[in-house]
Amino acid sequence: MALINKLIFFLVYFGYGQILPILGENHLAPPHYKVVNISSLLPKPYCQKSTSGPAIGSQKLKIVSRHGPCFPNAKTPSSDSEQLMNWDEVRVRSINKKPKKTPSFLSNYDYGGYTVKIGLGTPRQNFFLMFDTGSPATWVRCKSCTKGCKSNNHLYDPSVSSTHTNNKSGCNGSFSVSYRDDSSIEGIWGCDTFTGDDRDIGQIQNFRFVCGQNLKGDFDEMDGILGLGKGDSSVTSQIPSMQMFSYFIPLTSSRMGNLYFGNEAMDRSKDCLITQFTALVDGQCKDCYYVDLIGISVAGNKLDVSSRMLASRETIIDSGTVITQLPEEVYSALRDAFRQSMLAYTLLEKADKLMDTCYTVKKPLIIPEIKFHFGKENTIDVSLSESGILWTPTESMMCLAFTSAKDNLSIIGSVQQRGMNVIYDLKQKRIGFGTNCPTY
Ligand SMILES: *[C@@H]1O[C@H](CO)[C@@H](O)[C@H](O)[C@H]1NC(C)=O
Ligand SMILES: *[C@@H]1O[C@H](CO)[C@@H](O)[C@H](O)[C@H]1NC(C)=O
Ligand SMILES: *[C@@H]1O[C@H](CO)[C@@H](O)[C@H](O)[C@H]1NC(C)=O
Ligand SMILES: *[C@@H]1O[C@H](CO)[C@@H](O)[C@H](O)[C@H]1NC(C)=O
Repeated sequence: MALINKLIFFLVYFGYGQILPILGENHLAPPHYKVVNISSLLPKPYCQKSTSGPAIGSQKLKIVSRHGPCFPNAKTPSSDSEQLMNWDEVRVRSINKKPKKTPSFLSNYDYGGYTVKIGLGTPRQNFFLMFDTGSPATWVRCKSCTKGCKSNNHLYDPSVSSTHTNNKSGCNGSFSVSYRDDSSIEGIWGCDTFTGDDRDIGQIQNFRFVCGQNLKGDFDEMDGILGLGKGDSSVTSQIPSMQMFSYFIPLTSSRMGNLYFGNEAMDRSKDCLITQFTALVDGQCKDCYYVDLIGISVAGNKLDVSSRMLASRETIIDSGTVITQLPEEVYSALRDAFRQSMLAYTLLEKADKLMDTCYTVKKPLIIPEIKFHFGKENTIDVSLSESGILWTPTESMMCLAFTSAKDNLSIIGSVQQRGMNVIYDLKQKRIGFGTNCPTY
């Protein structure tokens, strides 16, 4: 076995790509490499319904990609990398903007693409909201929307809800946030009953959210945002049991994931082979969750540049950004190391507008392991899943799913979190990464 490992390592490392195919698909990868099942990276044209049913009385919301077949009336069958990357660009621009008035970092193009279905009001009105760990306020488009809403948008109508209030303390006042790209949302605060999907989540009375009335910019016709960021208006601050939440971002856009709250979140982490915790730290953006990313390894080798460059930088973990971005020097080192271990494959020049390390997909696909190292003390090493490393814009091409940041801020995006169970334990100010989880 060791000999075979070495042989494959040799072949991959030294680029004898033409010999690789004869080894077939079921062989073992050399140490710090992994064999990738290409079909598991590609979304199916139909919704791959979750096989594990919800536990009785669980506090769970299903996560579906807005751009995948599990989303009702999805406009596109699969994610378009260029579009998502452009959204990321705008998102980063808004994260870097430091608005004085409302410290919110949500961009109008805020599409990690992951939505949860919730109900508001009595009787309930249904909405698919993007869940966003990068912004605290929950908002929905409202019936009273005067700008930026169309007749076919889902609009919340407070007048038909017997439980709606907007005239008592805590449930009133105006809301407005604007972003550097000139988009903005204005609305009013109100409270109503919040209900989860499939009655998995109990009803929450007097849930505080924004009735969006004046939307400027392109919001991709989404219904609104479920704000899981830091801050008083966040779902996590309003509902004590939601001080603990976890999500599993599906491997592809045709699969479903789950967002769990409370004890259920901790219970789910037991499904994964390993769950490692690291401290949530403070940073410039008050609404954001920061982690102490101190290094990155590729194929078992720690990037030279990473500790020095990362230690002095801030790293946000975000469900609304798609592709992870790293400071220029760190990204270059990562890319060079990745390319070095992918010599067996043909590097495509300028294949993608925003990712610069793309290859033709070929069997067998053996890629280097990428690990994130968190925390100066009690360092944890978190291995990314293969769908957390690769972006597959088409069936015949895959790219290293990282980009360089135009500034020095690092953001861990949703792609890198795919296949992981990420658990936020806000009381203990820590975040856990569950790896080797069953895929749902
Ligand atoms: C590869 O993934 C597909 C779809 O996820 C699965 O049906 C198949 O059994 C996998 N093949 C191997 C060799 O694991
Ligand atoms: C709030 O509005 C309701 C219904 O419109 C009304 O009955 C109630 O008196 C109002 N409360 C306050 C404090 O204004
Ligand atoms: C909210 O309602 C309370 C109680 O009716 C009132 O005292 C307060 O001024 C209102 N606040 C705003 C911002 O309208
Ligand atoms: C990033 O940080 C490095 C080192 O501190 C500095 O030289 C560089 O100018 C910074 N880049 C930007 C865009 O701020």
